[in-house]
Amino acid sequence: MELQFQRHRRLRTSANMRALVRENHIRPEDFIYPLFIYEGENIRKEVSSMPGVFQVSMDNLQAEMEDIVAHGIRSVLLFGIPITKDACGTQAFHDHGIVQIATRYIKEHFPEIIIVADTCLCEYTDHGHCGMVEGDKILNDESLDLLVKTAVAQAKAGADIIAPSNMMDGFVAAIRAGLDEAGFTEIPIMSYAVKYASAFYGPFREAAEGAPQFGDRKTYQMDPANRLEAFREAESDVAEGADFLIVKPGMPYLDIVRDVKNNFNLPVVIYNVSGEYAMIKAAAQNGWIDEKNTVMEMLVGMKRAGADLIITYHAKDACRWLKEAE
Ligand code: PBG
Ligand code: ZN
Repeated sequence: MELQFQRHRRLRTSANMRALVRENHIRPEDFIYPLFIYEGENIRKEVSSMPGVFQVSMDNLQAEMEDIVAHGIRSVLLFGIPITKDACGTQAFHDHGIVQIATRYIKEHFPEIIIVADTCLCEYTDHGHCGMVEGDKILNDESLDLLVKTAVAQAKAGADIIAPSNMMDGFVAAIRAGLDEAGFTEIPIMSYAVKYASAFYGPFREAAEGAPQFGDRKTYQMDPANRLEAFREAESDVAEGADFLIVKPGMPYLDIVRDVKNNFNLPVVIYNVSGEYAMIKAAAQNGWIDEKNTVMEMLVGMKRAGADLIITYHAKDACRWLKEAE
């Protein structure tokens, strides 16, 4: 009997043959590295659930930035941890808020680095929610004002990209109008357009000290069971003037990344969140998986799913591995 079949293995015969037909690649310029800036002095504290990730105070920022640049990373995403918190998150939009201070410093000493400022209130509010609170309600429209103030303060300090992560309705419209009015028409908005209420944010809430003090974020972040809702969120953010669309978390939502890539003509950013990082690190430390191969497979999988850019705590390691492979 004569068998009819195709010989797919012809294109897998050697490393060079496989390289020849490789469809997706990861490059250092794909990465955005999250950075936690702590108000205070003499702080360089490893996040216990995120080995390799450090909260740093301003006096340790120079060394941290040098390390980032030496790895070949070109973009950072800034989060601030203030000393004082209050009901409306004043330190988020204060000219001397920690993210504004760090932004001015990085712009002065590392002018070529792209600074993405995370625009939210949860690290700065005493209740830990991303907006204004009344009783047990998270107020929408009342929160927009504070978010606009925060975005404008970040832009004034020199942020290159504003990345609002708060999931209030209309935040892109409000921030776009606020930036334009303040003269920042050229500053793009990288919207956390599709952000799910995820258990994978656990380690981040330790790192950024921004856990909600009551309730959860389910009235503003999305239900993990939903797909059409992601289309609605992305559509409205595009209409409101977003320049990039973030899907978050990453690994459990690769279908959504593909949907957003196929349906909207903006750069798609995937946020490979803290819990995803913690899982790989923990398994690798136990010797249960090979860290390098697992991370690189995950990252190229994100590119294959349609992500143009990847926000990831693995960025330093991945850049190092890419260099070693050259
Ligand atoms: C807060 C914010 C969160 C993350 C980024 N910005 C957490 C949350 O919404 O609770 C998560 C990042 C991560 O887990 O790595 N607006
Ligand atoms: Zn928040």
